[in-house]
Amino acid sequence: MANDSLTITDNRTGKSYELPIRYGTYPKYGAAIDASQLRQIKASDDDFGLLAYDPGFTNTASCKSGITFVDGERGILRYRGYPIEQLAEKSSYLETAYLLLYGELPDAGQMEEWVRNITHHTIVHENIKKFIDGFHYDAHPMGLLVGTVGALSTFYPSAKEIHDDARREKQIWRLIAKMPTLAAFSYRHSRGMPYVYPDNDLSYTGNFLSMLRRTTELRYEPDPVLERALDVLFILHADHEQNCSTSAMRVVGSSHPDPYSAIAAATAALYGPLHGGANEAVLRMLNQIGSLQNVPAFVKSVKAGEAGRLMGFGHRVYKNYDPRAKVIKGLADQVFEVTGVNPLLEVAIELERIALEDDYFIERKLYPNVDFYSGIIYQALGFPVAMFPVLFAVPRTAGWLAQWMEMLSDSDTRIARPRQIFTGSDEREYVPLKKRR
Ligand code: CMC
Repeated sequence: MANDSLTITDNRTGKSYELPIRYGTYPKYGAAIDASQLRQIKASDDDFGLLAYDPGFTNTASCKSGITFVDGERGILRYRGYPIEQLAEKSSYLETAYLLLYGELPDAGQMEEWVRNITHHTIVHENIKKFIDGFHYDAHPMGLLVGTVGALSTFYPSAKEIHDDARREKQIWRLIAKMPTLAAFSYRHSRGMPYVYPDNDLSYTGNFLSMLRRTTELRYEPDPVLERALDVLFILHADHEQNCSTSAMRVVGSSHPDPYSAIAAATAALYGPLHGGANEAVLRMLNQIGSLQNVPAFVKSVKAGEAGRLMGFGHRVYKNYDPRAKVIKGLADQVFEVTGVNPLLEVAIELERIALEDDYFIERKLYPNVDFYSGIIYQALGFPVAMFPVLFAVPRTAGWLAQWMEMLSDSDTRIARPRQIFTGSDEREYVPLKKRR
C-alpha cells in the first residue's frame, strides 16, 4: 500500500511526525500505529511524551492474534478461519479446542490422541474434595471454581515451567480435562450431593452431565440431543478474542505465573455481570418481567434508566446480531423438544421483538448477544442460574489457553504494564496528625 504511514502535526510545537502503519490479515480491521511511537511527540525536551488515553481499551490492539476473528458490524465470528456456524454444525467441542490451540483441525490420529489425553486427566486430587467441603453450602459455584482452579496450581508445582513445551502441554490437558470436574463438584457441593467421579467412557459433555446428574444409577446415560446441545454451546463459548476475561488471562499470564493462577484470574473476570455473569442476569430479568404483557413497560423503564440495562443485549464489538445468539436460538427448539418449552422463551422473544423495533436500541445498535438465549436453554437443561457463568468458564478454558500459548510464543510480548494520566495533587508537605483539620 502506498504511503503506509500517518503524519501527525503537534500544534504545540509545529513539529510533524511520520508514524508507520502496520496491518493484520484484513487491513480494514487491523490497521494500527505502535502506541510507543507517540512518545517521541513532546511539547518540550523534558516532556514525557504523548500517551494514548483509552479506558476500557475500546480502540487499543493489545496484541497480534491469529486465533479468532470477529467482524462486529457484519456479525461474523470465525475460529482459525472457520465460520462459527460450520463448527457448531459439524465439529465437536474437543475438536474445536484442538483447532483453537494448535491452529489446524486434527487428523484422525491427532484427534484420537487428543481425546485420550484429555479423557485421562479428568480426575482431580482427593484433597480438592476436602478443599471444596470447606466452602459454605450456599457458596456460589463460580466463586468455588475461581478458588479451586487457582488451588490446582499448588498440586502441580512443575506447572511454573511454562517455557518447557512438554510440561506446558500437560497443564493444558489437565485444565481442559479438570474444569468440568471442578465445575460439577462445585455444583454437587451447593446441592449437598455426593461428588460423582468422571466416567471416561462418556464424551466430554456426556461425562460432564453424568458428574452433574448421576444419583443412584450404576451408569448415567446422557440424552444424545441434550449432550450434543451442550457440546454446541461449548463450541460457541470456546473463544471470543480479546474480551475482558481473555485480556485478564493475557495480562496475568504476561508476568509468567503457572496457567492455573492465570485461569483463576480469567475466571474471576468472567464472573462479573457485564461479562460471563450476564446470562444469569438475563434469567433474573426475564423472571422479573414475568409475562408478555409486562414487556413494553419493562423496555420503557430500561430506556428511562430506571430498570438497569436490558441484559443479554448490546456488545462492545457486535453492532449487529451476535452470530452465536442465532445458533443458540435455533438450538433452543431441539432442546425444548426433549425438555418441554421454557415459558420464559416467549417473554424473551417478545422482548427481542420490541427492542429491535425501538429507536433507542436501533440507534445504539443493541442486538441480542450470546447470553440472551443461552440462559433459557441452560434452565431447560435443569441448571440453576448460579451455574450459568460456570457453563461459560468450562468451554472458554480452551480459548484462554490458546491465547495464553500465543502470547508466550510472541516475541513482541512484554509484561502488561499500562500507563496513566496522573490527575492527583502536585507534591505537598506531610502534615502531622495533630495539625490536620
Ligand atoms: N440496555 C440498555 N442500554 C444499553 C445496553 C443495554 N443492554 N447496552 C448498552 N446500552 C446503551 C448505553 O447506556 C449507552 O447509551 P448512551 O450512549 O445513551 O449513554 C450506549 O448503549 C453504549 O453503551 P456502552 O456502555 O458505552 O457500551 P459498551 O461497549 O461499553 O458495553 C456491554 C458493552 C456488553 C457491557 C453493554 O452493552 C451491556 O452492559 N450489556 C448488558 C450486559 C450483557 O448482556 N453483557 C454480555 C455481553 S456478551 C458476553 C460477553 O462477551 O461477555
